[in-house]
Amino acid sequence: MRIGLCGYGSMGRHHSQLFRKHIPVVELAGIADASAERRELAAQDHPGVQLWDSGQEMLANANLDVVFVCVPTYLHAELSVQALQAGCHVFCEKPMALQPEECQTMITAANESQRSLMIGQVLRFWPEYIYLKELCDSRRYGPLQSLSMTRVGGVSTGWQGWYLDERRGGMQIFDRHIHDSDAVLWILGQPRAVQSYGFSLDPHTAGGINHSFTHYDFGPELLVSAEGSADMPAGFPFTAAYRATFARACLEFNSRQQPTLTLYADGQASHPELPNFLEDVSSGLNISSAGPYFNEQAYFFACVRAGRKPATVTPESAMQTIKLVRAEIASCRSAKPVTIQ
Ligand SMILES: NC(=O)c1ccc[n+]([C@@H]2O[C@H](COP(=O)([O-])OP(=O)(O)OC[C@H]3O[C@@H](n4cnc5c(N)ncnc54)[C@H](O)[C@@H]3O)[C@@H](O)[C@H]2O)c1
Repeated sequence: MRIGLCGYGSMGRHHSQLFRKHIPVVELAGIADASAERRELAAQDHPGVQLWDSGQEMLANANLDVVFVCVPTYLHAELSVQALQAGCHVFCEKPMALQPEECQTMITAANESQRSLMIGQVLRFWPEYIYLKELCDSRRYGPLQSLSMTRVGGVSTGWQGWYLDERRGGMQIFDRHIHDSDAVLWILGQPRAVQSYGFSLDPHTAGGINHSFTHYDFGPELLVSAEGSADMPAGFPFTAAYRATFARACLEFNSRQQPTLTLYADGQASHPELPNFLEDVSSGLNISSAGPYFNEQAYFFACVRAGRKPATVTPESAMQTIKLVRAEIASCRSAKPVTIQ
């Protein structure tokens, strides 16, 4: 599989480093980035790989099988559609696109070209969240009663400050907190409504939401909430966490602790063994351990090789996640609950 990588920022570079673990299944055939500095870095990291000044130019000229879209979010739809129409399978980073209408355009392009489109909703490949879903589905400790999620950290700026521009990136509620919104949909399904509160105290952000609290309405017997922020002071470590209370147990995850996961059940605390996602992926690769971003790549490549549409994250589910976060933003702005369609 010849891969073209659009965007060599922090996420594109991260993906490119993981591609090495898939050799010889994949070959990094081209890297496109709008910044000369990033192209220089790409040349140092991947000597001999063909470089392009823009994703659009690479897609119009290179002969590729698979395209990774790792550009700022406002370019996701345009480049994904161009790649699909060029006959490539596409892995696009989350959020799928800024608006549901753009997501629909991407889905239509994937259907028409009969190529796979997968969005990088990486928590679906994250062992601690897979474990949580498994406990919810199996009801091993009874039904889930409450779930509180956290994703907080410092500000991201990105290329030309796009992270701080609501029209180009959607701001933290859309960009960072979306991981937890997606996990809620994946694990629990659609809430009846959302009630969110959020604000930004950063004068550079033109009012986009930088810190938010959401309550997801699943009825009186299940409480679900999530806090997201990108306004922690410098030095505050990025933290992803959850606490899930079941009828007969409590499961706690905290990315800053080691081990990260603790189960309180039967009167004692234990650290569950984390699921090995790759056992489920017949990728033909000889890899012993890997992180969630590698897991999602391995899954995507395995689907492409088998001619199977990725089912763990469908483009329709990723669009649903965009609609959910849009509802959360509307709720913040109106200070009212918003019903989910
Ligand atoms: N899954 C995750 O956990 C995760 C984490 C971080 C970022 N992301 C997502 O990844 C995407 C990229 O984020 P990032 O942090 O790498 O941003 P970034 O600003 O670090 O990098 C974006 C890169 O795209 C390049 N670019 C801009 N226009 C281009 C074009 N037309 N063609 C080619 N290159 C172009 C820029 O020069 C820049 O180097 C975003 O959608 C972001 O939300 C996902």
